[in-house]
Amino acid sequence: MGSLSPPILSSSFHNNKTLNPNNSPSHRPSNLRPFTAIISNSHYETERGFRFETGDTFFRHESATGRDLGVLAAALYKKSNSTLRVLDAMCGCGIRSLRYLAEAEADFVLANDANENCNCVIVSNLSSVSSADNGRWMVNHAVANRVLAERYVDRDLFDFIDVDSFGSDSSFFRCAFDTVKLGGLLYVTSTDGFSSGGHRPNHSLAAYGAYIRPLPYSNEIGLRMLIGGAVREASVLGYHITPLFSYYSYHGPVFRVLLRLNRGKLSQCHYRFIAYCESCGHSQAISWDKLGQMKCPCGSDVPDSLVVSGPLWTGPLHCASYLTEMHDLAGEWGWLDDGMKNDLDKLLQRMIDESDPNLPFGYIQLDEIASRAKVNSPRLVTIMSAIQQEGYSVSRSHISNNAIKTNCPMSECVRIAKQIQNV
Ligand SMILES: C[S@@+](CC[C@H](N)C(=O)[O-])C[C@H]1O[C@@H](n2cnc3c(N)ncnc32)[C@H](O)[C@@H]1O
Ligand SMILES: [Zn+2]
Repeated sequence: MGSLSPPILSSSFHNNKTLNPNNSPSHRPSNLRPFTAIISNSHYETERGFRFETGDTFFRHESATGRDLGVLAAALYKKSNSTLRVLDAMCGCGIRSLRYLAEAEADFVLANDANENCNCVIVSNLSSVSSADNGRWMVNHAVANRVLAERYVDRDLFDFIDVDSFGSDSSFFRCAFDTVKLGGLLYVTSTDGFSSGGHRPNHSLAAYGAYIRPLPYSNEIGLRMLIGGAVREASVLGYHITPLFSYYSYHGPVFRVLLRLNRGKLSQCHYRFIAYCESCGHSQAISWDKLGQMKCPCGSDVPDSLVVSGPLWTGPLHCASYLTEMHDLAGEWGWLDDGMKNDLDKLLQRMIDESDPNLPFGYIQLDEIASRAKVNSPRLVTIMSAIQQEGYSVSRSHISNNAIKTNCPMSECVRIAKQIQNV
């Protein structure tokens, strides 16, 4: 049953505290609805023991794992730096802000959402952790770029910035890099599965500077496209970024990466092109100075057999030691054996396995090996152990249950699959 929610309070900061007293209502984002009472479909959800209201905001309980990962990272930051100021730039109902306050013990959270209609719900949810008078949080309503730019101009920098955006919005990168502290963390999102699938190359070019064509490991490409876009924007400001983890979830789909910002030049060795040979299934990274000499080692003379995408991030998706710390903390908090369906233990273990430095970008679907070998799809454990016995590195992929990551070339995978089935 719908109920009548309280009217909107005012624009900008909303718990009776104003960071910038000169905020002019005329600067209010144009996409906001006028001050009216609204009919609410509000209901309550519970996540990791916290009960909160969702109101009419955009909320997906499937995104809980992405929130868990963000909270673990923020908590590790607080433990090692003794301070944690978070800017939750697109906070919806404020569940992330609530969890950054309660679980990561953030000293301060600025919860922002462009939609002023979220205000009462956010204020009510954050009040359940800490009274507004304690000054641990503030609520703001502006477009993300505006709040980021305002904080930057005031030299009010943050340790952790979470931008939970829709689609392939990358317009906030520059402002976010300006507003995060050096050594600080930026948690960014893409939900653009069309672009990662290579179905909108002009769109991915505009958003992330990468011309993306269809590749068999497109969901990993989505993560690499997002990181590559961030690498490029950071380099404009003389910074470089390190991905600490990269997480794909098929709900959405959602591509989320946690990046650490440091001063320093862009290293070209991880910002390259990817070429996939449709004839033999081999993938290779192509550096900028070899762009004119691209050809597959199989020597295929099939015209257009090489599918080239990029530039994008071809380096590690995760930092294994960081993921191990996250896993340990999740264990301390009892999150690894909580009987929840979104098995965090398995996810973090797989991400750690994927971080083996011997493993290249991409993954190989077992169906592709089977179809090239013209045999039935091998069992995952069987082919993994056969590949390992031949001296190659191999792991599962957190992105696809029926795929492997390996430095074993496709031609060898095909030979091994035939051998397993005595063909
Ligand atoms: C994916 S939802 C956020 C979900 C929330 N972070 C969570 O975990 O439940 C995105 C939110 O961003 C807000 N939004 C959209 N464009 C925005 C912009 N340019 N600046 C700030 N907020 C924006 C929307 O009102 C929406 O609430
Ligand atoms: Zn080839």
